[in-house]
Amino acid sequence: MENKTLEKEKILDVKNISKEFPGVKALNNFNFDLYKGEVHGLIGENGAGKSTFIKLLSGAFQPNIGEITISGETHKYLTPHVARRLGIQTVYQEDILVPGISAAENIFLGTELIDSKKFFVSYRTMTDQANTLAEQMGITLKVDEIYERLSPSDQQFVKILKALAQKPKVLILDEPTQAFNVKDIGLVIEMVKRISKEGVGVIYIAHDLEEIIEVADRITVLRDGRAINTHDKKLEKYQPDDLAKEMIGRPVDLFFKKKESPVGDYIFEVRDLKIKESAKPISFRVREGEILGVAGLKGAGRSEIARAIFGAYRKLGGKIFYKGKNITPSNPIQAVKSGIALLTESKKVDGLFMGLPVDHNITVVGIDSIGKLFLSLGKERKLCNEYVNKLNIKTPSLNKEIRFLSGGNQQKVVIAKWLFKGVNILIVDEPTHGIDVNAKTEVYELFTELAASGKSIIMISSEMPELISLSDRIIIIRNYEISKVLEKNEINEENILSGFMGGN
Ligand SMILES: Nc1ncnc2c1ncn2[C@@H]1O[C@H](COP(=O)(O)OP(=O)(O)OP(=O)(O)O)[C@@H](O)[C@H]1O
Ligand SMILES: [Mg+2]
Repeated sequence: MENKTLEKEKILDVKNISKEFPGVKALNNFNFDLYKGEVHGLIGENGAGKSTFIKLLSGAFQPNIGEITISGETHKYLTPHVARRLGIQTVYQEDILVPGISAAENIFLGTELIDSKKFFVSYRTMTDQANTLAEQMGITLKVDEIYERLSPSDQQFVKILKALAQKPKVLILDEPTQAFNVKDIGLVIEMVKRISKEGVGVIYIAHDLEEIIEVADRITVLRDGRAINTHDKKLEKYQPDDLAKEMIGRPVDLFFKKKESPVGDYIFEVRDLKIKESAKPISFRVREGEILGVAGLKGAGRSEIARAIFGAYRKLGGKIFYKGKNITPSNPIQAVKSGIALLTESKKVDGLFMGLPVDHNITVVGIDSIGKLFLSLGKERKLCNEYVNKLNIKTPSLNKEIRFLSGGNQQKVVIAKWLFKGVNILIVDEPTHGIDVNAKTEVYELFTELAASGKSIIMISSEMPELISLSDRIIIIRNYEISKVLEKNEINEENILSGFMGGN
């Protein structure tokens, strides 16, 4: 019958899987397969069931019905142990390695290299092997560096190398580039292609359609727990619009066109802000109703600057003014009282109370790290409902504890929370990371509305289209300094990229 040399080897076959949680059918008769040496992309709206699926494959959850065939064995469910034995390795977005030890040690932690030899394993052997692994993958990584001192992208590389050190048959990457620079996304894509060429089957989850189109040999679209369609690169040219339509269930406009509204006078000023001894102080002003984009590479200091303005990061100097009045907050509570809000990048860590229901998380303004104090605003449920609807937050009810929501929906709750607070200056750090294409548009519309109503938004973003379509002006941060300011008519990709490099 078939030509065996042409027919690829199927290493994973998932049939009629269903997984129910109270009030939610996360997966509904879902089918999925994976061949040796292919990258199979998985896309879908926030809450579509992507993470649930990979948790079934890694043995973290058990399906209600269905079966999983892998490497010739068929199972009703997998346990973490069985999944590992069968060669499944998963890199979760939240996966946090041991911060205080080196990259190399993290990579080999829990592997034979350490287990069997315990104290005798030489640090040298480990770093050598880590270096070899990194080299094979075409990346440069300081394997000696303490994990927490690595850039977010390098930390992610360490996680991937750690999974690879186990020599997996199936490698699962759940939104691996969420915290990445454009340049590093390219590296991940190269790396994944290389891994698959060596015969590993890769399951790749991403919200960025361009990224998934670039990396995936096949793409399966998941909607409400069902496989809607599977596309094959060899048989067709992927169409982003079609993919988005299948994900959402109706056509969506992938290019956001902002409705421009007039901006007012300067109302907010950051004067001589210094958070790094060696860097020139930072000064900039923001107008009423303005969206000020903040561009720069990861590690350039953008998040630290935002947190310093918010009083959540140590300042070496500098003042903050609102309508000419010095309001320099020394902690986040003062910042909130002065009408400043910060939507942090690591939203799950310091933005939410995981054990509290959705509505509490929206109506309560929690203060990260300081923790104990928070302002309860106790406003009407109506407004709360409105934001849940506007942002299309997928939850069985407002009473659902936040930890049961999908990653992207948790992030939408953080956005709703700050909108609800009705602040004057909204600082947002990578506001749409992890959010699906449709919800992105909703967020852009909300930001546009807010700006039109006179709020000012300072938007840190690494997404070019987002920076370009929303910003009235852009400041570019490099090494904790402003390297360039772009006026509206100067905003384009080329100018932004040249600002990253420090060009003027
Ligand atoms: N432990 C759980 N308990 C209850 N419900 C859950 C649990 N985990 C997930 N869910 C629900 O299952 C559905 C699918 O969630 P899942 O995390 O798989 O979505 P996702 O496609 O990964 O979305 P995202 O893009 O936001 O990460 C959601 O409605 C979510 O609220
Ligand atoms: Mg998820």
